[in-house]
Amino acid sequence: MRWLWPLLLAWASLAQAQGALERGEYLVNGLGHCGACHTPRGLWLQERSEAPLQGGWVQGWAAPAINGQALQSWSQAQLVEYLASGQAPGKAHAAGPMAEVIEQSLSRLNGADLAAIALYLRHVPGPAPAPASDGPANADLSPPRGQPRPANPEQLSAGQLFDAHCASCHRGGGRGLPALNDPEILARRASANLLMVILDGVQRGGETRMPGFAGQLTDRQAATLVNALAAPGLPALVPGDVAARRGQPPLYFRGWVLLGAAGAGLLLAVGALAWRLRRGG
Ligand code: HEC
Ligand code: HEC
Repeated sequence: MRWLWPLLLAWASLAQAQGALERGEYLVNGLGHCGACHTPRGLWLQERSEAPLQGGWVQGWAAPAINGQALQSWSQAQLVEYLASGQAPGKAHAAGPMAEVIEQSLSRLNGADLAAIALYLRHVPGPAPAPASDGPANADLSPPRGQPRPANPEQLSAGQLFDAHCASCHRGGGRGLPALNDPEILARRASANLLMVILDGVQRGGETRMPGFAGQLTDRQAATLVNALAAPGLPALVPGDVAARRGQPPLYFRGWVLLGAAGAGLLLAVGALAWRLRRGG
């Protein structure tokens, strides 16, 4: 009967893994509502169930795809660390709405639950995200020595803007802490999120880790910085894109505006009909 024990043990660990996967599925799709941001939305703002966790938008931020393919280069430990603290060195640092999710809910889960979430995410099927955001960052942020300062501040170069606003923390060339010239970090950020970090800053764990620059940079200056920092191959931002992202209303707000407009239209139509009926009769 000695052969029975290894068999039983293997069955027990299989059952345990299956249990973790189910727990992860419940935490991601039920309790955590991860799809509210990470699943693309259709015409009526509904989550597209045929494209689970394949990447969506929220308040001007891109919520990247978080399926097995998209997270292929993350180890289980890196993923758990990101979910617990928002910081996975060399991978990503959470900002914006994701920092809030971590602060308000994920950081309160225990290690087993976070491991279950990470395990489940790595099992979600789906296509790999478009490769455009891979590859080294463009960042030429070397200090602009000897470069004459243009009379028009709109024409400051990326290096000059970086020197003026960012180098005090990120240092010349972006080598400071956190390192901005780490291609892995910058290439992973969609240029939309790069812009949002620059405009809104980074708040996490109840503290402002980086101040926002929305009040200090013009649309053109912000676009210049993003285009220098973003990975090549991403479409360049123009000042109009920056203007559109400033004060982007939350998704649910836009939903309510649409509903409100539809409701007002309906009321008008009913009113007009009643008026005509009364006049007619
Ligand atoms: C309110 C919207 C929102 C919700 C809800 C949300 N996320 Fe996110 N998530 C984001 C955004 C936006 C980013 C990008 C953050 C950034 O660039 O700093 C992100 C980034 C991530 C990343 C990093 C991916 C990468 O490639 O860098 C992971 C992993 C992740 N989220 C997991 C989750 C899980 C798991 C849940 C559910 C428990 C969840 N998110 C719920 C908005 C959200
Ligand atoms: C007061 C210090 C400070 C200044 C000034 C500052 N930053 Fe930051 N920045 C930080 C810190 C700290 C973080 C890391 C936050 C975290 O833990 O996620 C950060 C993170 C970032 C990130 C995200 C990196 C990642 O891991 O995803 C980008 C991009 C960035 N900064 C760009 C800029 C740019 C561009 C400027 C100038 C317009 C700037 N920063 C000015 C302190 C600063």
